[in-house]
Amino acid sequence: MIKRTIGVLNYKGGTGKTTTVVNLASGLAERGERVLCVDLDAQGGLATYLDVHYTYSLSHLLLGQAELAACIVRARDNLDIIACDRTLFQAEGELWRLGNTQQARYTLTERMRGVEGYDYVIFDFSPSISLVSENGLLYVKEILVPVATNYLALVGTRQVIDTLKAISQLPGHQFQLSLIIPTFFQGRLRKDREVMRLLRQYFSDKVAHPIRSDVKLSEAPGHGMTIYEYAANSNGAADYRRLVERVTKNG
Ligand SMILES: Nc1ncnc2c1ncn2[C@@H]1O[C@H](COP(=O)(O)OP(=O)(O)O)[C@@H](O)[C@H]1O
Ligand SMILES: [Mg+2]
Repeated sequence: MIKRTIGVLNYKGGTGKTTTVVNLASGLAERGERVLCVDLDAQGGLATYLDVHYTYSLSHLLLGQAELAACIVRARDNLDIIACDRTLFQAEGELWRLGNTQQARYTLTERMRGVEGYDYVIFDFSPSISLVSENGLLYVKEILVPVATNYLALVGTRQVIDTLKAISQLPGHQFQLSLIIPTFFQGRLRKDREVMRLLRQYFSDKVAHPIRSDVKLSEAPGHGMTIYEYAANSNGAADYRRLVERVTKNG
């Protein structure tokens, strides 16, 4: 039985979505949770972040060109992924053509039906509102929103939350916004502290402890490593461990 299905989403790029997916998932895996990560972003590169090689990707899964088991690749102990790349752009076009829109929205849910043996399934969303992200939203029950505290965080965040609320009212959706994760936080900057204060004012206990801006977090993907592998004693590792703790308690 899958215990939790989580989407990491923000309609803005570069807010730390993939970094959060990688270090949340690997942190959970280290604690013995069995985790499957699914990359929904054609430009996201989850497989690269984890240095995983693959033959079949999300595109093959969506189009029924490969079995589910063939699309799942082992990344670490307790951690598997379904990779995604630019072939998704074409696959999405084909999806539209396969059946009616209603069916197309549930393609991923259909194809994922055989997924078993995991405690967590975690989706790395693309920053766009697309048929594929709609497929993802119809599957997950919880949404985590990483918010970069250094860039118009508040305006953007309210837009994302309002959009998600509107989508969650549509038939078939079961997700809830469970956590806002401030990222790229620089405590010495007044603006960042002010953004934190306002986030807490608006979203109260839904705001997680911030992930600090840390050069180690930006270097780790270049080495295909998680932050725990690359710099176990860094601020980034400490902050993501704390997030893992928070997410396990939320459940
Ligand atoms: N807290 C952080 N501190 C410093 N760099 C970060 C941090 N989080 C992410 N990065 C870097 O910023 C870039 C964008 O992060 P990423 O997770 O890929 O964003 P997204 O998936 O939302 O587009 C990447 O190069 C990543 O390594
Ligand atoms: Mg990404």
